[in-house]
Amino acid sequence: MTTRNRLLVKGGKVVNADRSFDADVYIEDGIISQVGKNLTVPGGTRTIDASGKIVMPGGIDTHTHMQLPYMGTCAIDDFYTGTKAALAGGTTMIIDFALPFKGESLIDGFNKWKNWADPKVCCDYALHVAVSWWSQKVSDEMEELVTKHGVNSFKLYMAYKDLLMVGDLEMYETCKRSQEIGAIVLCHAENGEIIDQESKKLVKLGITGPEGHAMSRPEEVEAAATAHICMIANQLNCPLYIVHVMSKSSAKVIIEARNRGNVVYGEPIAAGLGTDGTNYWHKCWRHAAGHVMGPPLRPDPTTPEYLMRLLAGGQLECTGTDNCTFSTHQKALGKDDFTQIPNGINGVEDRMSVIWEKGVAKGILDENRFVAVTSTNAAKIFNMYPQKGVIAPGSDADIVVWDPNATRTISAKTHHQAVDFNIFEGMVCHGVTVCTISRGKVVYEDGKFTVSAGDGKYVPRKPFCKYVYNRILKRQETHDPKKVEREPYTGPVHKIQGST
Ligand code: URP
Ligand code: ZN
Ligand code: ZN
Ligand code: ZN
Repeated sequence: MTTRNRLLVKGGKVVNADRSFDADVYIEDGIISQVGKNLTVPGGTRTIDASGKIVMPGGIDTHTHMQLPYMGTCAIDDFYTGTKAALAGGTTMIIDFALPFKGESLIDGFNKWKNWADPKVCCDYALHVAVSWWSQKVSDEMEELVTKHGVNSFKLYMAYKDLLMVGDLEMYETCKRSQEIGAIVLCHAENGEIIDQESKKLVKLGITGPEGHAMSRPEEVEAAATAHICMIANQLNCPLYIVHVMSKSSAKVIIEARNRGNVVYGEPIAAGLGTDGTNYWHKCWRHAAGHVMGPPLRPDPTTPEYLMRLLAGGQLECTGTDNCTFSTHQKALGKDDFTQIPNGINGVEDRMSVIWEKGVAKGILDENRFVAVTSTNAAKIFNMYPQKGVIAPGSDADIVVWDPNATRTISAKTHHQAVDFNIFEGMVCHGVTVCTISRGKVVYEDGKFTVSAGDGKYVPRKPFCKYVYNRILKRQETHDPKKVEREPYTGPVHKIQGST
């Protein structure tokens, strides 16, 4: 073994989701080998000094769209710039989405995205796969994706009419099939029909700016859609995960469903935790358009803290970003009509800092809960735990050395993403990545990258994740419909007129 494959992170405070403790972390060949004090390690081992710093599991961003072809253009951060920026921010894994269109093979869609990602990724990644139509082939391919391609999560869109949006039948079948094969269903909960009609109405009224985007899809639309998919998933005893929970109303629907016993998880995103929808009314078009995403950020400025408190209380479990970036010239496709503004915002680089600042620095989250909602719970829900999401012997050495006292100011001028705009511009954040380690290799240190395109790996995930499915299977035992045994009715039966 060469010294390149050995690393000691010394003198820091290890912060896992369950506890914090002072310990050194010794890594061999990409895997954490020992965690403890006064470790004996081979001579020549490279040492990272972590004294005064926090040593925590690398972030897992559950929701990204790198280089997504969308609305006549393509997201400007690709699997290279996007994952490199992720590492700078302390995120060591993303889960992106393969989005096969209606009529397209799911396997072809998966392969297309994987072929885009493999040569470019700088951090590890996995793929959720969207179901945008229904047929026997789709059903068969879902099983193939689960058994042969390491996919255990399928995405349903209730928005983007004619493109990805599905109706009740497709949602029902997808939930049913997912439950049979041990997968979880993810849902973008909105209402494409209503949004379409409301958008046309607003444009006709002359409201063509980004504020029209927010007005066309108020939070009651998101809440109603969330309730609807909760109902369908629960009918089929299928685990459900609501992506980008943007509003109080939608979060309340999730809490109520959880209180009734539904197996449902909610994912707020960095954008929704760090800023709000008042930006759509900003006088500068570029600024307002830079915040356009679906579902929109909410104009109620108390929403971000509300969602953060739900993360603290465990009602919401993990965080993503929906990173899907478009530069100003791309957003300008909709300069005269908000319906043509490509939907999407940044976040993959700044999620950890924004959540630290708005959560930990504000006294809402403690450091352990921070790790839970930025890494561990994602690993658990998507069945990658304890390979990912914890600092423990045997786990992948995806580690961030984090300075909780240092500050940085977020800016498009200094960020590592390709996009020319940052929705967190000017935000001063406590919590700065000092060093990022991916599979035991230092990939980012003191502002410098030591990583190449393709260094990241695809992480296959198994079905029937115990964290999710233990409860589903228990519910199955008690909830399965049972008939009532009774004597047959033998009395007279009314004759329907015209019948023989
Ligand atoms: O605005 C968004 N969210 N763009 C990406 C597509 C999606 O909805 O996930
Ligand atoms: Zn979405
Ligand atoms: Zn501006
Ligand atoms: Zn998305």
